[in-house]
Amino acid sequence: MKTVGTAQRLSSAPGHALTGSVKVPGDKSISHRALMLSALAIGESRAEGLLMGEDVRATAAAMRALGAKIAFDGDSATVNGVGVGGLMEPEDVLDMGNSGTSARLLSGLIASHDLYAVMTGDASLRGRPMARVTGPLSEMGARFAARSGDRLPMAIVGARDSVALDYTSPVASAQVKSAILLAGLNTRGETVVREKTHTRDHSERMLAAMGADVRTAVEDGHHVVRIQGYAELSPHHIRVPGDISSAAFPVVAASLVAGSELVLPQVGINPLRDGIVHALRAMGADIETRNPRDLGGEPVADLVVRAAELSAVVDLKVEPSTMIDEFPVLFVAAAAARGTSRFTGLAELRVKESDRLAAMAAGLEACGVAVTLFDDGIEIVGTGGDIPGGGHVRTHLDHRIAMSFAVLGQVAAKPVIIDDARPINTSFPGFVDLMRGVGARLEVAP
Ligand code: S3P
Repeated sequence: MKTVGTAQRLSSAPGHALTGSVKVPGDKSISHRALMLSALAIGESRAEGLLMGEDVRATAAAMRALGAKIAFDGDSATVNGVGVGGLMEPEDVLDMGNSGTSARLLSGLIASHDLYAVMTGDASLRGRPMARVTGPLSEMGARFAARSGDRLPMAIVGARDSVALDYTSPVASAQVKSAILLAGLNTRGETVVREKTHTRDHSERMLAAMGADVRTAVEDGHHVVRIQGYAELSPHHIRVPGDISSAAFPVVAASLVAGSELVLPQVGINPLRDGIVHALRAMGADIETRNPRDLGGEPVADLVVRAAELSAVVDLKVEPSTMIDEFPVLFVAAAAARGTSRFTGLAELRVKESDRLAAMAAGLEACGVAVTLFDDGIEIVGTGGDIPGGGHVRTHLDHRIAMSFAVLGQVAAKPVIIDDARPINTSFPGFVDLMRGVGARLEVAP
């Protein structure tokens, strides 16, 4: 179900208590990196438990166009890489679909290879800023020509001899950090990225596991990553944890629907990603992390969640970067909670797959929840469990807006209509069937 053809409306209404086990798909961030880095190793790598969503497929298609051989078998892939420096010039435009991670990380990879490439994406991706990566990558010697200055479609002329960079990132973004580190792989000398906010470290972990000389430190209040160029990556065998960003939807649903108890096996709980668990627990959620363990260099655990009475978020003590993709569904939890929640410092949400502050505010209002929107945040008047619902929600090609309102509908008085379910395939193929399987009432209309 790709986002082509006509929209598929989704109706969400209260079903049963949610019980059973929910196996969420592989982590999106790690799946992208597994394919990209395997494509740069010399020899055969294997990745298991990949997210087989549209975003990761876009990365796979691009890496093939750049010369890697990738064979899928269910949610596993065998990848024959070309070696750092060995990417080939793609014959056609690279279509990144809805995926900001593919577009930004691949801009980094291409930037230090002597080749020409053109990138485009869907209407959502074509509206997202690229200057945050093209700025530093230009300093490394790449050239970019982009629509409206920094939007896709964008042409990239990679540098023949890229120059190492020491970059202090002005934005809390793992995509920016990773794009520069990937460019640094095929650049002589040491490339350094410094960030004030410590963002997800999947690239650093995987690069180290594949033998790159990558070092991390804290210096002058910044998190610093150094990578030595002309790296050689060894092929690897990686097992991808379940995506905590996808788990967040059933976790919030089970927290809100009375009588629920769900088990979510093998979910990634990297401390730079698990903010949603801490935020929900602070609201009163009952979430257990059982059997914590390591899976291929990433921490995972089984999550057990039971329904609980939630109260408002008064002072979110969680670093936003550790749950940046989970705010839409946290706003749903706030709408159902008792009391008024206030969130600030979230301007980044305006440049995600949609303007998530505006999209969530509009959807919540349509469902009878009072909100006040700020430039960098939102105030949500919790209903104490009495969400009127009945709203028609616009998702703006944003998978997480669609799934957030699918969750909200499970506890709303009147059914919630979501304008288009197709974007859900970006990150969580099978979401509707999986949720129905544990008791949710969701119907896709033709
Ligand atoms: C991602 C980083 C985050 C996140 C995105 C995936 C990554 O984006 O929102 O879904 O894989 O590096 P930013 O780097 O823009 O914060």
